[in-house]
Amino acid sequence: MCGIVGYAGTREAAPIILDGLSKLEYRGYDSAGIAVRDGANEIALEKTVGRLKNLIDITNNGASMRGNCGIGHTRWATHGAPSTVNAHPHISGNRTDEPRIAVAGVHNGIIENYAELRKKLERHGYAFYSDTDTEVAVKLVDYYYNKYGLGPIDAIAKTMVRMRGSYALELMFRDRPGEIWIARKDSPLIVGIGEGEHFAASDVPAILKYTRKVVYVGNLEFACLTANEAHFYDLNGDEIEKEISEITWDAEAAEKDGYEHFMMKEIMEQPKAVRDTLNSMLTENTVDLSKTGLTDELFREISQLHIVACGSAWHAGMTGRYVIESIAKLPVQAEIASEFRYRDPVLDKNTLVVLISQSGETADTLAALRLAKEKGLRTLAIVNVVGSSVAREADGVLYTLAGPEISVATTKAYSAQLAALYCLAVQAGFARGTIDRAAYEGYIAALRELPEKIGETLKNEGEVCRLATKLAGKRDAFFIGRGTDYPTCLEGALKLKEVAYLHSEAYAAGELKHGTISLIEEGTPVIGVLTGKALAEKTLGNMIETASRGASLTAVTTLPDSLRSGHTILEIDVPETDPHFAGSLAVIPLQLLAYYTGCAKGLDVDKPRNLAKSVTVE
Ligand code: G6P
Repeated sequence: MCGIVGYAGTREAAPIILDGLSKLEYRGYDSAGIAVRDGANEIALEKTVGRLKNLIDITNNGASMRGNCGIGHTRWATHGAPSTVNAHPHISGNRTDEPRIAVAGVHNGIIENYAELRKKLERHGYAFYSDTDTEVAVKLVDYYYNKYGLGPIDAIAKTMVRMRGSYALELMFRDRPGEIWIARKDSPLIVGIGEGEHFAASDVPAILKYTRKVVYVGNLEFACLTANEAHFYDLNGDEIEKEISEITWDAEAAEKDGYEHFMMKEIMEQPKAVRDTLNSMLTENTVDLSKTGLTDELFREISQLHIVACGSAWHAGMTGRYVIESIAKLPVQAEIASEFRYRDPVLDKNTLVVLISQSGETADTLAALRLAKEKGLRTLAIVNVVGSSVAREADGVLYTLAGPEISVATTKAYSAQLAALYCLAVQAGFARGTIDRAAYEGYIAALRELPEKIGETLKNEGEVCRLATKLAGKRDAFFIGRGTDYPTCLEGALKLKEVAYLHSEAYAAGELKHGTISLIEEGTPVIGVLTGKALAEKTLGNMIETASRGASLTAVTTLPDSLRSGHTILEIDVPETDPHFAGSLAVIPLQLLAYYTGCAKGLDVDKPRNLAKSVTVE
C-alpha cells in the first residue's frame, strides 16, 4: 500500500520519480506528491488528490520542478481521508506551503503509536496540519534532529526506536542537500545502484529502466543515498555492508506489451507462468523440491500442514488443502492470515506452516510467519516476488515464476501458486507412500499438460463475453461448487467483486440452501463450477434448485455431458484434466468473466477503487 520512489544523482529527479511512481500506482492511487531540490535551494513540494496523472499534469511531467534529488509518493489512504493535505510528502513545519522546509518525508506503512507520539510532539510545540501518521514520523525525526543536534543517523535511529508499526520512509533534510535518507521496518524498500546515481523504491519495476543492480534494505536498517554513494546503517547507527543483487527479468515484463490492460496481459501469460513454475520443480519424471528444503524425510515427519495466506492466495491454499489431503493423506488447514495470527492456534511441533503470497509483503501473512517461527515451527513460503520479506524470513522458499504482476487483481500469480501446491501434494504423496510410482508419474504427466490446456481454455472467450454483457447489468451473482470447485468459486466471486464491483458470493454448493437461497430471484445469475465426475451431479442438482426459483444458470464444466437437466444452462466448457488439477482450468473463464464485466461497466480493471495490490497494513 502506497508506493515510494527516491532519486539522488545528476539527472532531473522529478521526471524519474514520476515515471517510477507510475510503475507503483498498483500500490495505491488516491493521491500523490513529490518533493524535489535543486542543489542547496529550498525543498520544493507538489501534491494533489486523485490519480498520479493529476500530479504529472500540475508539474508539467516534472518539468516545473528542477533539481537532481527528490522523493515521491502514491498513496492508499490509511490514516486520514484521501485529500491534498493528507497526501505525502509531509513536512516538519506547520504548513505545507511553508517556504522553508527543514525535513520532508514520504512513507508507506502504518505508525501504530502515532497518536501517543503526536501528543508528545504537541507538548514540544509542534502543530499538525494533517490527519496522517506520516506527518508524526517526519516531525519526530525533526524533533530528534534538533534536540540532540547529532545529525540524521542519530535522529533516524532514535525515531525508529520510538515508532511502532511498519514503515518504508524516505526523507530529505534542508541541511543536507543532495542526500536522500531512507529507513525500513516491515514495508518493502529497495535501493537501485546506478552510475553516478542512486534510487530508492518500494518495488523493482519503478527503477528497472535505470538499473538492474539492487540492494534489499533489511528490517530496521536505514541508509543515506547521494549521487555517488550509498551508506547503510543498523539501528545502532553502525555502518553495515550490503549485498548487491542483479535483477534478471526484463523491464518489458512489467509493461503492457500492446494489451489494453495489465490484467488481460497477465491472464494471457498464465500458460507461461504455470510452465515456468512447474519446470522449476519437475525433472523428467520426478518432482524435485530440494531447493526449498522439503525433503522426503520432512514429508514423512510432519503431522499436519497449516497453509496461511490472504485474499486469492488463501483461495489457492484452500485448493491446495483438497489436493494435498486427497493425494498425500496429510491433514491440512487453510487459513486466513489475519485470523491465524490472533486465534492462538493449536500447532504441534511437527506442523509445517506454509505461507502463500504473491508480493511476499502482506502484513498479516508476514506476521503469521513470524508467529509460526516464534513457536519453533518449520515454515515454507510460496512467494512470487524474489527477495521479499516473507521469502527472506521463511525457512524455505518455493518461488512461483509468474514474473512481475502489476494488475491489482491477481491472475497469473494465483495460477502459479496452484501449480506449486500441486507439486508439493504429489511429492508429499510419493514420499509418504500414499501413491505408488505409477500414480506419481501419472500426476506428473497431467501437470506437464496443464500449461497447454490453460492455453486452450483461454481461447474459449465467446460464451464468457456473452455472460459478461448480461452480468454487467446485474446486482448480484452466486457461484457454487463442491470439492476443489468451491475454492475456484471463491476466487471467481472475488475477481468479480474486485474488478467489476458486482456483489458476488461463493458457496459450497450444498450450503446455498441454508439461508442464501432466499436471495435467488427471477434472473439472478448462478454460476456452477463442475469439474469432478463424483460431485458434478450433486452440484447440478443444487443449480437446478436455484433455477426452480428463477435463477439463470451458467455451468463452467469439464463434463458437458452431465448437464442434461431440462433447464437452460449457458455452458462454458473447459478441457478435461486430472480432477485434482481442474481448478487451474476452471478459474480461467472466471477471471475472463470478471475482466469483461469490469470492461463492460467501463471500469478501470487494473486499478479498482479502494484496493491495493500489496497490503502492508493489518
Ligand atoms: C490484496 C490483493 C489480492 C491478494 C491479496 C494477498 O488484497 O488485492 O489480489 O490476493 O492482497 O496478497 P499477496 O501478495 O500476499 O498474495
